[in-house]
Amino acid sequence: MNIKLAVIPGDGIGPEVTEQAQKVLDKIAGVYNHKFEYKTLLAGGAAIDATGNCLPDETIAVCKASDAVLLGAVGGWKWDTLPGDKRPEMALLGLRKELGLFANIRPALMFEELADACPLKKEIYDPDGNGGLDIVVIRELTGGIYFGEKGFKDTPLGKAAYDVEIYAEEEVRRIAIVAFDMAMKRNKKVTSVDKANVLESSRLWRKVVAETAKNYPEVKLENLYIDNAAMQLVRNPRQFDVIVTGNMFGDILSDEASMITGSIGMLPSASLKNGNFGMYEPVHGSAPDIAGQNKANPMAAILSAAMMLRYTFGLPKEAEAIERVVKAVLAKGYRTGDIFSDGKKLIGTKEAGDLIAGEI
Ligand code: IPM
Ligand code: MN
Repeated sequence: MNIKLAVIPGDGIGPEVTEQAQKVLDKIAGVYNHKFEYKTLLAGGAAIDATGNCLPDETIAVCKASDAVLLGAVGGWKWDTLPGDKRPEMALLGLRKELGLFANIRPALMFEELADACPLKKEIYDPDGNGGLDIVVIRELTGGIYFGEKGFKDTPLGKAAYDVEIYAEEEVRRIAIVAFDMAMKRNKKVTSVDKANVLESSRLWRKVVAETAKNYPEVKLENLYIDNAAMQLVRNPRQFDVIVTGNMFGDILSDEASMITGSIGMLPSASLKNGNFGMYEPVHGSAPDIAGQNKANPMAAILSAAMMLRYTFGLPKEAEAIERVVKAVLAKGYRTGDIFSDGKKLIGTKEAGDLIAGEI
């Protein structure tokens, strides 16, 4: 297969981890007879420094003309004092919106080799000894409070700022379909998370999810309020299979779910629209404190590349090869700093990429 990839290394550790993902993809290309053609693009703080604009038009245009996008991370201290609409994070939101990537898939999968890093007690995350956790959070990514009207106004209590949470039925329906389809391929359970006891937008969310559920009689649907869901996730995470929720709640719950697996440094994500196109990025951020020091864990970026092969290109064998090799490298005791513990072999970003590529 001939694959045209847009690569957005971004800021902080983004370029380092993306480089390792490309290294692994090139190895895959050699072994399985594919060809990756990369176009490296600017977005985030790097784009602000180079062009004054966090998301240059060229970046959007080349992404649209590519088969998929691989992204590192954006943001950093250097740009933290810019006004809200000029921050590097706006590049990420702009890309999601411009590319129509409404479905964010965030698997929270525990690697047994890293179970010790789980902050929960073993009887909570693995009561029957059958192995850890396998949850997927499906987060709506182009609507809700992130994209509703925002602004300032004067009130009797002084100057106020507001952000509107708004969901259209169709926005809810299309993400619900993604969740139910995913559940059909897994354990046939969907937990929809909202705040329908308070929010009108959540009551609409709940109604549309229930309508969609009628087309999936085999899937068990459960509704939870966000506060309860956040609690249940640490009380009994094994009750979850697919979680579907709005943009803001999904942002929060996916971080919480990721920590239960041990390290956010391991977790990939896919942002999809209908069809095959997608943007793939690690769940972690740009980690400016360790940027440029060869300390970052590239596994989330590498596993994001695996998700890309699976979802956009329909190459499950290649995706599994990457996932298997990541586990093998962990099983041999190699650890980057974020997942290091006594008795293990400490490696850097580049060594992790070399080991993984080398094993394929
Ligand atoms: C994420 C991040 C982003 C978000 C930020 C950087 C805008 O936290 O991808 O989860 O809130 O969506
Ligand atoms: Mn987040």
